[in-house]
Amino acid sequence: MAIERLVEPTASDDKEEERIEISLRPTTFAEYIGQEHLKNNLRLAIDAVKKRSDGSTLDHILLYGPPGLGKTTMAGVIAHELGASLRVTSGPAIERAGDLASILTNLKDGDVLFIDEIHRLRRVVEEVLYSAMEDYKLDIVIGKGPAARSVRLDLPRFTVIGATTRTGSLAGPLRDRFGIIHRLEYYKEPEIEQIITRTAGILKTKIQPDATKLLATRSRLTPRIANRIFKRVRDYADVNGDGIVDSKIATKALDLMEIDYLGLDPADRNMLKLMYDNYGDRPVGLTTIAALTGDETTTIEDFYEPYLLQLGLIARTPKGRVITEKGKKHLQKSGNKL
Ligand SMILES: Nc1ncnc2c1ncn2[C@@H]1O[C@H](COP(=O)(O)OP(=O)(O)O)[C@@H](O)[C@H]1O
Ligand SMILES: [Mg+2]
Repeated sequence: MAIERLVEPTASDDKEEERIEISLRPTTFAEYIGQEHLKNNLRLAIDAVKKRSDGSTLDHILLYGPPGLGKTTMAGVIAHELGASLRVTSGPAIERAGDLASILTNLKDGDVLFIDEIHRLRRVVEEVLYSAMEDYKLDIVIGKGPAARSVRLDLPRFTVIGATTRTGSLAGPLRDRFGIIHRLEYYKEPEIEQIITRTAGILKTKIQPDATKLLATRSRLTPRIANRIFKRVRDYADVNGDGIVDSKIATKALDLMEIDYLGLDPADRNMLKLMYDNYGDRPVGLTTIAALTGDETTTIEDFYEPYLLQLGLIARTPKGRVITEKGKKHLQKSGNKL
């Protein structure tokens, strides 16, 4: 069975957690920490649109990268900075072409339509979206059989912001409709520190600088995980101390969560160990890894792998994934005999 994970970078189903996550979400460029390159590009594009008075709209934007790095947040920030209203949907939520048609015809000029997990759009829906994005027209078929006829509707001028963890699985023609395509990068440690400091402020918790630093090193350079770990440590401080998060409390709480100095949790270490025990230095395919850990292949690809690759603990080869020397060292340091 897959191990339940604290460091899971996806949004959680927990209502309380969802409420806190929303309260922590930055709404302006100023509040959105890091991703400077993306912000600079977007600022320029937004300023240009605002300056022109010919009714032009912002290019469609595709944001991609591992979960928890701030794609959804950025969509909100863009809409806010544009002064536009935001309509949120997702690939799997749009079941039929008609669903998309009704979303599109209800938009107003300048609106932003955020489509999360855009790589999961159905083919028929995707095709309707192409022409809508391309020339703000909607082709629909009215009636059935010989009486059916096709009509072309004018749509408002809107901007699509698509988010995906994987551009590879996005159809070429859809990808081509985006004027701005940007990969969100893992954050730098000082940026994660800023995010933790900001979160502590919003949640009215005192945290000492060395504790902030420590948590930042364990957060997989991912804001969602930084916030989640922070909340757990804060609970620990409330129960076992006076509510102030210092490095002693933080260390104890991290130990309890079994998060190691690289930010790996038991599930990551388990995957590395299974790879090593069963395949040693030989490459192993994704489906095999998934069978070993009991996860879906997409879970491995989207959640485990990106960070382990980023750290250089595993590598991708044409024949599969291999554990690197660094990966083996890490296993040894975590108490495994190889
Ligand atoms: N640049 C950032 N600055 C501050 N907090 C951020 C930033 N990016 C993300 N977050 C926090 O991390 C959480 C997860 O971000 P989200 O946009 O949902 O990620 P994604 O859509 O890429 O999975 C948000 O609720 C927000 O609190
Ligand atoms: Mg998201």
